[in-house]
Amino acid sequence: MEAGENEVVELELRLLLEGIHERYHYDFRGYTSSSLRRRVTRALEQLGCATISRLQEQVLRDENVFAQLLQFLTVQVSDLFRDPSYWKALRDQVTPMLGTWPSLKLWVAGVATGEELYSLAILLQEEGLLERSLIYATDVNAEALRSAEKGIFALDRLRGFSENYFQAGGTRSLSDYYTAAYGGAVFSRRLIEHVVFSDHDLATDSSFSETQLVSCRNVLIYFTPPLQERALGLFSDSLVHGGYLCLGSRETIRFSSVAEDYEEVVPEDRIYRRVRR
Ligand SMILES: C[S@@+](CC[C@H](N)C(=O)[O-])C[C@H]1O[C@@H](n2cnc3c(N)ncnc32)[C@H](O)[C@@H]1O
Repeated sequence: MEAGENEVVELELRLLLEGIHERYHYDFRGYTSSSLRRRVTRALEQLGCATISRLQEQVLRDENVFAQLLQFLTVQVSDLFRDPSYWKALRDQVTPMLGTWPSLKLWVAGVATGEELYSLAILLQEEGLLERSLIYATDVNAEALRSAEKGIFALDRLRGFSENYFQAGGTRSLSDYYTAAYGGAVFSRRLIEHVVFSDHDLATDSSFSETQLVSCRNVLIYFTPPLQERALGLFSDSLVHGGYLCLGSRETIRFSSVAEDYEEVVPEDRIYRRVRR
């Protein structure tokens, strides 16, 4: 019996993900197949492979090809103070409560190239909380993490960043936090003095303990429900009673098994509070 082209591509994709898992221990099997297919198609064009099977052969035999493929499989789109209303809500409704803890641990999961991290650090600084905060900044993509650690962003992005910052309730000028160098804006090292950067895979690793806030924004949209469930379980294990969970604007805990353990703090900005164990 002949298989249709679509079935063959699905099979090739499954085999590629199995191969990656066995060979490199990265697990993309719980990602939604529509977005994976789009990204693998782009990788085929860029890496000059006619089929996924050809790509699989190269990926399994050459770890450099896998490193390149990883950049296609993980989406790095981000912005400083992305979704300003979320940051405004965090400033107005969450930081006063965070201030009641003597010390803080915060986990930014899926930090990408750092835009969200620098936004959070600036917000904590302006609310007088940065000095007592330890931030775990994690991502499955080590190259993105290295870039986050450098904290250099293209100059042509700053205007948009600055607009977001003001809409998010910023109290100073964004330019107070960076200097122009290396052809970009280099964000102050002081913002990341208390940041631990760590390679961490939500599909395979365990959680960080006793955090007051977990932010995982625009990551779960790429996951199928079972992988979303795994990630949300990690966040629940991580958060202390009364701790906050922040998701992206298109993400929700509503249909998950942990939904009952949280109250909605700012539903439209996907900010939840852990109130039950
Ligand atoms: C679209 S970016 C989101 C960046 C930032 N959180 C934001 O909202 O602007 C998605 C990030 O999730 C990361 N990611 C994807 N799968 C992951 C996994 N299994 N574990 C940890 N991070 C993952 C990607 O590498 C990427 O950096």
